[in-house]
Amino acid sequence: MMEREAVGRAFRERYGRAARIFRAPGRVNLIGEHTDYNGGFVLPMAIERETVVAAAPRADRTVRAYSAGLNEELSFDLDHPNPPRRGVWLEYVEGVARALESRGLKLSGADLLIDSDVPAGAGLSSSAALEISVGLALARVNGQEVDGVTLALAGQQAEHTYVGTLCGIMDQFVAALAKERHALLIDCRSLEAEPVPLDTTSAAFVVSDTRVKHELSSSEYNVRRAECARGVELLRERLPGITQLRDVSVADFQKHSGVLPDPILRRCRHIVTENERTLGAARALRAGDLAEMGRLMYESHYSLRDDYEVSSPELDVLVEIARGVPGVLGARMTGGGFGGSTVSLVRREALADFERALSEGYERETGRRPAILVSEAGAGAAEVMMSDE
Ligand code: GLA
Repeated sequence: MMEREAVGRAFRERYGRAARIFRAPGRVNLIGEHTDYNGGFVLPMAIERETVVAAAPRADRTVRAYSAGLNEELSFDLDHPNPPRRGVWLEYVEGVARALESRGLKLSGADLLIDSDVPAGAGLSSSAALEISVGLALARVNGQEVDGVTLALAGQQAEHTYVGTLCGIMDQFVAALAKERHALLIDCRSLEAEPVPLDTTSAAFVVSDTRVKHELSSSEYNVRRAECARGVELLRERLPGITQLRDVSVADFQKHSGVLPDPILRRCRHIVTENERTLGAARALRAGDLAEMGRLMYESHYSLRDDYEVSSPELDVLVEIARGVPGVLGARMTGGGFGGSTVSLVRREALADFERALSEGYERETGRRPAILVSEAGAGAAEVMMSDE
């Protein structure tokens, strides 16, 4: 990964003119998994890994994009769409450009140079970082302002229509709107968010990448969405006022869950209880109650493993090893599941023991080494102001 300034210099060398620089971060979700597309609550933070885009407008309607990581240049014409769902990285770029235009922004062509240190396939939303940094760049170099929520919705629309993943709004929202030293409690129905201060003086959030990504993830993701929708249909016989699982309280669920067959019952139970846990986690963090936060993280993991069934053997191994280390307050899988990463809450004085136990234990059980990242909560998408330009 190049420094931000170096991305600007590389742009000048490649395209022969100056560029403006934009960035957007990857994310880790602390709790609130698979709740976003059920209208519920999530609590992610941005990590200190980012995608950087150097951009300058063109007189025509061509967008050229060069990926420094892949050493590959691809392009498209804003007036002649490529067919979607071809499985190339350009779809994130083209998808977000088209989504912005469909929302009324007028874009000219542009040259883009993109670099990133958000690991792909680790469940840290490298694709949202790409969509949001490129979306912001395209809007701004065309002299247009785009608010964070619109940018996030455009990124999600790109995933739905161009990439073909029916994701919720969490990843794009936090990439666009994250706040340094805070997690965001996002209400995925109203699209309002409250920053929750993270005091990491005594404990840190640690991301551990299994380095395994199972192929199941996107097909099973859509199956889970359909199971939740079916659960709402069935529960409406008893609870006619509901439109999403977000509307179902734990008490109502316990009373009426008898109408649900397995596995719909377990899928819905995860969502209903996860919403409660997420609100509880935000309260715990505000009160400085890290022990309670950790307890909720473990509960979330077991619910995702047993009821929602989106964990993997590797994720479970990482959580169980973490659990055995003194000073670890909580751990859980993070993101969509079927591979990717866990997030653990670890007392500072236990960090070295934690990293050693995790590396050795995981290698013993799986033959692989995990990638471990300790990150503070970073900021959301922004233009980077260059000191020398
Ligand atoms: C993926 C999706 C998000 C969210 C998570 C699960 O990261 O992109 O919208 O649904 O899975 O919480």
